[in-house]
Amino acid sequence: RSLTMEKRDFSEISDTCKWESPDYEPWFPVSEKSNPLTRDIDKSSPNHIVRLLAACDAQMFQKDTGTTYQRLFSDSVVLTMLEVARTVEQILRDPEDSLVVLSGCGTSGRLAFLMASCFNRALRDRQQNTVYSYIIAGGDRALLTSLEASEDDPKLGMLTLEKLCEGKRRVLFIGISCGLSAPFVAGQLDFCLKHPDIYTPVLVGFNPVTQAREETMPGYSLTFREVVQRMEEQRGQRAFIINPAVGPEAISGSSRMKGGSATKILLETILAAAHTAAFTNTHVTRRVLLDMMRGYERVYSVTYSHSDQIATLLQTAGLSLQCGGRVCYLSWGSLGLVGLIDASECIPTFGADYEDIRGFISGGYQDMDNIEGDLTSLGSQFCIAHEDFVSLVLPTLSDRDTVLLLYTCHDDVGDVEKMVHRVREKTSNLHSLYHGLEGDTAQWELSSKLVLNAVSTGSHVLKGKIYRNHMVDLQVTNSKLYHRAIHILQVRTHARTHEALLKAIYHVEQLPEDITSAGASCHNDYHPVAFTSVIRKCFERHYDTQQLYHPRHPRTIPINIPPQQIHRRHNLKLHSTLPSPTLIRGIPQLSK
Ligand code: F6P
Repeated sequence: RSLTMEKRDFSEISDTCKWESPDYEPWFPVSEKSNPLTRDIDKSSPNHIVRLLAACDAQMFQKDTGTTYQRLFSDSVVLTMLEVARTVEQILRDPEDSLVVLSGCGTSGRLAFLMASCFNRALRDRQQNTVYSYIIAGGDRALLTSLEASEDDPKLGMLTLEKLCEGKRRVLFIGISCGLSAPFVAGQLDFCLKHPDIYTPVLVGFNPVTQAREETMPGYSLTFREVVQRMEEQRGQRAFIINPAVGPEAISGSSRMKGGSATKILLETILAAAHTAAFTNTHVTRRVLLDMMRGYERVYSVTYSHSDQIATLLQTAGLSLQCGGRVCYLSWGSLGLVGLIDASECIPTFGADYEDIRGFISGGYQDMDNIEGDLTSLGSQFCIAHEDFVSLVLPTLSDRDTVLLLYTCHDDVGDVEKMVHRVREKTSNLHSLYHGLEGDTAQWELSSKLVLNAVSTGSHVLKGKIYRNHMVDLQVTNSKLYHRAIHILQVRTHARTHEALLKAIYHVEQLPEDITSAGASCHNDYHPVAFTSVIRKCFERHYDTQQLYHPRHPRTIPINIPPQQIHRRHNLKLHSTLPSPTLIRGIPQLSK
């Protein structure tokens, strides 16, 4: 190994732990810090981008080193998980008039939906009554697109929870807020604390409680931190907090990535362990929880053992975006939701159009099983079935576009083949992600999530939507994002950032005092604002914006895709069928 390699590895190792230092960006909670590992991700090659994402994701599983932060495997975290799992177990044994509610905003709400659906399905398969329900700020349409303003409303959160649980005797409420920051969730937790006879609140997030958000919430007397402090007073009996640190996100604040993955790992572990205990007449143990979480750690390793293929996919998706093409995920089974979730997040995170990266699920809303049912009447953006893909996208599909198929050994391969042939007539740029016999649905979902997060993030990095490791084309659609926007502006400029942002929001050159003196949440009605134009204005005086915001030069894609590799041990295959027609013949073999 060359000396340079060793130097780089050494600096990567020290960068891995650097964020834990109390001096590292002390003004930010962990979930908003910039990850030292990815400070140059905007200049990295596709292979290096994947390597950096893998290193960031590895931080989720880092062992407890006795520093300030508790981690996924810390005793304190596992103990709380155990207590929550036992509460779920009791509900499963005696489900009459009981409910387990999972709730969150944005990705956290989408994952709440994914898990509630998955575990209700498991109950139905056993001819049991369902006990899970979900709440997402903004309602079901927020499952597919960003409606982030509702995140700021604690009263709305509270009222939605109260309505959903009317007449219930016992409710386990699981509020997910990766940043310990969403007022919508804070309102719900506070409501639970006020009604301990019925509600037991659980908070899931990835900051220490001392870093919970301190900003006042509109029309509410408490801050998120004060609600958390009240929960702490009841901790372990009437309230639970599960908040390991998983390190800063690869793209600062993008909690859809590690925050989302860790939410899925923690909650699926708790719920799956509770199901096993309740239906085999055993009890949840610490060991069971640890084993399940280690299973997810293996999923992480197996997935990134396909880094070269992921990098190829990311590169081709990046090229599609750079030349105005689209990236379509066509999924079967529960992977469909993973695809829809990943695609929906690109709009607020990268200022993307809904057509840039778009998900389709084989059975459409029938497969979704969401509370509000079929949403297609809301417009083309809500058309999510494969038949919608065939009628709306396929006719104009070309080699500029990238199509990725996601399916598992449980899906109808005949159906996949049919789709392959139809897509193949229009584009040679077709790939597939296939999961074979080993593993379970939850693991396949996590694996797919990691791949899709890498593809959508990496392709937008290649498109020039990231500066260093900051999103610079985000939509400023709620107070958290308003503050994030301010901090991003401060990364490189001492310009009067608040003023610049407000001028852009209100489209004025002079700011009246009622605007400058209003709090962040008062500006929500004026969103969304084209943040790139704000940031460009601020930077213009100081920097060469051409250099900063000019999308990266399209790269030449090396079209020497390695032959399909079948990793029999883990049975995860990432096929790359670009562009040789012979490779696509591999698809039918999957039915064997
Ligand atoms: O405000 C937007 C957003 O940051 C989404 O991107 C994210 O999924 C959501 O808020 C929820 O954040 P949290 O889980 O920290 O409450």
